[in-house]
Amino acid sequence: MEEEEVPDKEGVHQWLSEDWFPEHLKKYWFQRHQWWSKYNDGIWMTEPAWFEVTPEPIANKIAAHISEAAPEDKKVIVDTFAGVGGNAIAFAREGRWDQVFAIEKDEKAVACGKHNAKIYGVEKKIVWITGDCFSVVEKRLRGRKDVVIFASPPWGGTEYNTEDIFDLTKMEPYNLDKMFKSFSRITSEIVFYLPRNSDLNQVAQYAPEGDGKLEVAHYCIKGASKALCVYFGNFDFPQEEEEEEEEEEEEEGEEE
Ligand SMILES: C[S@@+](CC[C@H](N)C(=O)[O-])C[C@H]1O[C@@H](n2cnc3c(N)ncnc32)[C@H](O)[C@@H]1O
Repeated sequence: MEEEEVPDKEGVHQWLSEDWFPEHLKKYWFQRHQWWSKYNDGIWMTEPAWFEVTPEPIANKIAAHISEAAPEDKKVIVDTFAGVGGNAIAFAREGRWDQVFAIEKDEKAVACGKHNAKIYGVEKKIVWITGDCFSVVEKRLRGRKDVVIFASPPWGGTEYNTEDIFDLTKMEPYNLDKMFKSFSRITSEIVFYLPRNSDLNQVAQYAPEGDGKLEVAHYCIKGASKALCVYFGNFDFPQEEEEEEEEEEEEEGEEE
């Protein structure tokens, strides 16, 4: 960035010194460089974003997986709950997409996301839309054939962590059913970023007729799952081919 920009919106912060960092968020201070590799270049955050942002290594991994596995004719990715830009920036950095849309209802988070995208040099690749994602996708994307939707919704606070299996019908403020029904009106390629202990039997209820297959991937840091992604639609993961080859080899072996 050419000149240092300083946040001038209430609730938008650039915390470069621990002295000013909120006491109740202290544990996140030590993770700041893991959350953002360019943190010291002047990343902007809101307070809630510390609980919500997708850490950069995970966002990069998800972005790479979606890029390699999405159908080729999908040229646009829509981050429906874009927050301060963790995932949207990673999508833009992939260089795979003609357009990245980032929808976010909180204008403070949007201010952070736009600024953070500049830090990573991808501000021209992201179109930010401040508003409610359910109405924005209906109004702006209905009828398009080239869209992948990525959704990292709020998980309803940190309560999910206290349960063995997280009930996705009770996720607040939007449960899986509401989101799946809204977004599947736009596209069949939808990726949800959900708590690591999400009830996979509930997820399976939305598996397609026919082969009924869904991909679920856990994303880990230091050997511990932080979250999972469910991939709905025609995502073609390389490991499927490997598995198919293995199965074929096994079958051939049996025939001999
Ligand atoms: C878990 S955070 C997303 C974090 C984001 N992936 C990141 O890395 O910064 C969820 C975000 O969804 C936003 N949100 C909640 N309801 C929304 C809606 N109906 N439309 C758009 N954004 C919404 C919240 O303000 C919050 O920033």
